[in-house]
Amino acid sequence: MNRPDTLNVPEMDIDPFSTDFLAMPYPDHERMRQAGPWVWLKRYGILATCRHAQVKAVLSDHVNFISSAGVGLANFNQEAPFRPKSLILEADPPDHTRARTILARILSPKTVAQIREHFSAEAESLVDRLLARCRDGAVIDGVKDLAEVYPLKVFPDAVGLEPEGRHNLLLYGDMIFNAFGPRNELLQRAAEKVQPVTAWIMHHCQREQLRPGGFGDLIYQAADQGEISHQEAPMLVRSFLSAGVDTTVNGLGNALLCLAQHPDQMEKLHADPGLARSAFEESLRLESAVQTFFRTTPHEVALEGLVIPPNTKVLTFLAAANRDERQWPEPEKFDIQRRAAGHMAFGTGIHACVGQVVARLEGELILNAIARRVKRIELVGEPVRRLNNTLRAMSSMPMRWIPA
Ligand code: HEM
Repeated sequence: MNRPDTLNVPEMDIDPFSTDFLAMPYPDHERMRQAGPWVWLKRYGILATCRHAQVKAVLSDHVNFISSAGVGLANFNQEAPFRPKSLILEADPPDHTRARTILARILSPKTVAQIREHFSAEAESLVDRLLARCRDGAVIDGVKDLAEVYPLKVFPDAVGLEPEGRHNLLLYGDMIFNAFGPRNELLQRAAEKVQPVTAWIMHHCQREQLRPGGFGDLIYQAADQGEISHQEAPMLVRSFLSAGVDTTVNGLGNALLCLAQHPDQMEKLHADPGLARSAFEESLRLESAVQTFFRTTPHEVALEGLVIPPNTKVLTFLAAANRDERQWPEPEKFDIQRRAAGHMAFGTGIHACVGQVVARLEGELILNAIARRVKRIELVGEPVRRLNNTLRAMSSMPMRWIPA
């Protein structure tokens, strides 16, 4: 699609789904932020924004920027979704409200208080085991040994999944988040692996597979009460399984990398482990695990002097908003004592991450457990990125922990 005449914004030839861009997105974010509040990315015929104020404005306006036409590049008004649409992420009110009410209740602060003990015990014992290996002189992998292991243990436990086969959740997440981009090689490769994985996921969304009293079962209880149908219940369980693992895996991986690359900040964290929560928050701001989401205009939208035609895909760069100098002093600096509140890593508005309490709990507990035992994290090899159309991900990060 060519840039409509009513959209008098700079046109740019940046491909935000190319290998180079995904490997190092920040210089292009900066170019787009400098070019203006809005840019037109001509390769895909989409409107995009990298500035905090505009990202926030789009995500806060679910009437003019809808989710039911897909939160990726594809416009579901014009092409069929590759999988049945999510009842929550890819829905607008009133459908969205129905699903959101149930998930928000399940993930309330009260629930989090209940799971805290188990999540904490698992964090402590995992960090103890890894530190023992470091004391024996071994190199550990921050991704394979920690960032993947912990969320794959605690979150599916809370949902009520059996222990076997959980690695399928990583493959599924990789595919889902690639599918928000174009049909490029990354998506093709992820999709090739995913056929048996999808069958496993859908099987494990069935009530019989879920431990009574777990998050998954609570969704079925909501169906028993008539809040959603029994056909819809497995779809909402699927939302937990798609959104709740790969996101935190990469949130934790990115946090570890930030701390390894900034020994002064690791020192501060070690001196005051109470900073664990704000350290996790700051790493989410600086290296946002979820980099982008789209919206679609359902009708003509007038905004900031622009007239945006109906069915325009609008790309919000959450990660770029989080480094906008208009919002943050010294945005490139990793400062665990910064007040990072207001970052866009969990989105904002009615679709803001419903699982953020769980993600924050995981981040805080792991960083706190490390902070009390470790004074320095040393990288002993180049971290290997796992490119994904939406996630800032890693596949490996060899490191050594220097005990206190
Ligand atoms: C560091 C970890 C996480 C990050 C960075 C993250 C990021 C996000 C973002 C940016 C959105 C907004 C989507 C939009 O505006 O279209 C979102 C929504 C969502 N997240 Fe998370 N998330 C994380 C962890 C989790 C966890 C642990 C769960 C499950 C417990 C979860 C479940 C969801 C769901 C179901 C939605 C859809 C909410 C809605 O549409 O109303 N997320 N997440």
